[in-house]
Amino acid sequence: MKRMLATALAMTALACSAAPSGAEELKPVRLPPPRTEGGKPLMQALRLRATSRAFAPDPIPLQTVADLLWAAWGINRAGEGKRTAPSARNWQEMDLLLVDAKGAWRYDAAGNSLEPLVAGDLRALTGAQDFVKDAPLTLVFVADPARMKGAEAASIEAYAYADAAFISQNLSLFCASEGLATGVRAMVDRPALAKALGLPGGRIIVFAQSVGHPKR
Ligand SMILES: Cc1cc2nc3c(=O)[nH]c(=O)nc-3n(C[C@H](O)[C@H](O)[C@H](O)COP(=O)(O)O)c2cc1C
Repeated sequence: MKRMLATALAMTALACSAAPSGAEELKPVRLPPPRTEGGKPLMQALRLRATSRAFAPDPIPLQTVADLLWAAWGINRAGEGKRTAPSARNWQEMDLLLVDAKGAWRYDAAGNSLEPLVAGDLRALTGAQDFVKDAPLTLVFVADPARMKGAEAASIEAYAYADAAFISQNLSLFCASEGLATGVRAMVDRPALAKALGLPGGRIIVFAQSVGHPKR
């Protein structure tokens, strides 16, 4: 019951009446606990960090999905609800949406789950370049200015872009550590993607970042 309520709230928060129908075909995904130990030493990960634009189609195991979401934007201090990346004034205005061949989900860091948004393969809409459709998953960084209490209107985008960049770098270093390919991009048709995702007006699509195995 609690989970159903949480799902309903997440969907109300992100979907609007223009959202394509079909989210009901997707089920919430309970993620396994993230593995927060191990990985390559930081200096080695920094040596390996690079942008990739070629992805193998192989799926990413659910455990790795849980790990990468935690590394990117998970909660690392449960008592305070604070995250692996900083955010200006701790607004935590960023939602990470996961887009794969089945649909789009919102990462719920506190619940360690993926909450369904839209069914269907939207990967091709997550960027203007051809390779974006091949990556098994893409994270879309969406800022909600309503959470940025007290921010001057002129500063909202700058803060959102800065906060997204920290999350993106966490994800890039995780991928470097795991031998995964990744690439952040700003070249996104934001109105088209926002429409397909059913985002309410005002949300800011900042970046998209694909993750996959390197193309052999
Ligand atoms: C804010 C930002 C936006 C970017 N947008 C794109 C993009 O739309 N498409 C793309 O292929 N690469 C994009 N990149 C990746 C850069 O082209 C890449 O980081 C740069 O060429 C340096 O390569 P490296 O990351 O391998 O060091 C972006 C990088 C940043 C930081």
